[in-house]
Amino acid sequence: MTYNTLDKGKTYLITGATGFIGYYLSRKLLEQGCRVIGIDNMNEYYDVNLKYSRLELLRPYKRFTFIKGDISDKAMMMNAFGEYKPHVVVNLAAQAGVRYSIENPDVYMQSNIIGFFNILEACRHHPVEHLLYASSSSVYGANQKVPFEESDPVDQPVSLYAATKKSNELMAHTYSHLYKIPATGLRFFTVYGPLGRPDMAYFGFTQKYFAGEPIKIFNNGDFEKDLYRDFTYIDDIVEGIERLLSHPPVEQEKAPHRVFNIGNNSPEKLMTFIETLEKCLSLSLDREVLFEKVYEPIKPGDVPATYASTELLEQIVEFKPKTSIEEGLQKFTDWYCEYYRLN
Ligand SMILES: NC(=O)c1ccc[n+]([C@@H]2O[C@H](COP(=O)([O-])OP(=O)(O)OC[C@H]3O[C@@H](n4cnc5c(N)ncnc54)[C@H](O)[C@@H]3O)[C@@H](O)[C@H]2O)c1
Repeated sequence: MTYNTLDKGKTYLITGATGFIGYYLSRKLLEQGCRVIGIDNMNEYYDVNLKYSRLELLRPYKRFTFIKGDISDKAMMMNAFGEYKPHVVVNLAAQAGVRYSIENPDVYMQSNIIGFFNILEACRHHPVEHLLYASSSSVYGANQKVPFEESDPVDQPVSLYAATKKSNELMAHTYSHLYKIPATGLRFFTVYGPLGRPDMAYFGFTQKYFAGEPIKIFNNGDFEKDLYRDFTYIDDIVEGIERLLSHPPVEQEKAPHRVFNIGNNSPEKLMTFIETLEKCLSLSLDREVLFEKVYEPIKPGDVPATYASTELLEQIVEFKPKTSIEEGLQKFTDWYCEYYRLN
């Protein structure tokens, strides 16, 4: 199958539009002249100034409309679908983060379960050509078989966050089956890049360095059995989503629903990632950077490894992520130093 270009005449409704991935996807579609309706509740899970910064970068596009709203507000969602009649919907709004779900479970149920249910109901009553929604590599739980393939069993999540994402896949399958909504789930693997999320390790480590504090590494200090992560650069994630937009799974008869991994297919040891971050920051600042490190036991809910098979993605849209951590982290540290005026 070939990669179709985007239809500029279509309206794309993107939830979580001022979030990390939502911002980049919205910008990419707007740059190509598409109409984008962005919804976000601008919550304060992490520094909300980053969300306002992203919003300011989207506002100049004439075909961008922003709605400050919560996807768990059913009436608001129904009105938005009724008013703007989106052709394609991308649900990226969610409470993210594995560790935060241990302390704050309620918000995961509200945003990830009730919010996603409202999206499905809105698609049922205002039919769309394609619904895409964020799932997560965390659905693979502590699966041992690598690389992780979409057909692997994913019935043993180890965090509530992962359980909500797996639930989203089940709910989407049901709605797709009952109401023939073409739906695509996106299992993202540890996404990083400029204007990223401060709750993620690479961003937090950089903040700690500038605060003069040690970084905590949750790998028991055991470098032989280090954690492995399939770190995926934001541009690769956006390209994967963009290509899938024009590939609704219409050929599936019983339920037009499919799930894809979007990951780098090249896991790195956590320590290698940290050393590369130090090197990139050294280059951005033109001085040697070494983090002060404290090693701690692995945290509940964390998984030992993530590793994406990208065969299905390659087969359907002829694309696999390609950015190395050297290239991607350099872009992050250059952005970080400029944004926070550190050099
Ligand atoms: N970044 C990653 O590494 C990663 C990995 C796997 C899955 N995901 C998933 O991808 C999606 C996007 O992630 P991100 O990294 O851009 O996170 P993000 O937190 O930067 O973006 C999510 C956005 O959704 C908004 N939001 C949250 N709850 C909402 C609600 N109830 N109503 C309206 N808006 C709401 C937030 O304000 C935020 O701007 C999420 O669903 C996340 O779970 C991300």
